[in-house]
Amino acid sequence: MFNYTTLDPMQVEYMEIAPLEQLPDGERIFIEVEGRSIVIFNLAGKLFAIGDVCSHDSGPVGDGDIEKFEIICPRHGAHFDIRSGKATALPAVQDIPSYPVRVVGGMIEIGLPKK
Ligand code: FES
Repeated sequence: MFNYTTLDPMQVEYMEIAPLEQLPDGERIFIEVEGRSIVIFNLAGKLFAIGDVCSHDSGPVGDGDIEKFEIICPRHGAHFDIRSGKATALPAVQDIPSYPVRVVGGMIEIGLPKK
């Protein structure tokens, strides 16, 4: 299970990441949380978070170009849906994690599965 955005809210623990003004529209931020590399995007005011590790060859994927809701891995061109982490084009065949994101009191929070 990689698409943590579909978890029951009771199974998710939210962590504060940064003030929303640090992530303007069209930008992305890279974070490390509990040993996970994650990239958070602001696309037209909607926030999305995915793992920053490509499932093809473990390269960083978060710097890739974005077309609609797909990010293109800069190394070999795999595509992932940033809403779900779903691999949508070869050479990747495995999904990458996606995480729920919310804004509370002006702070971006990311949801991780409870331990
Ligand atoms: S490492 Fe991402 S496509 Fe190869």
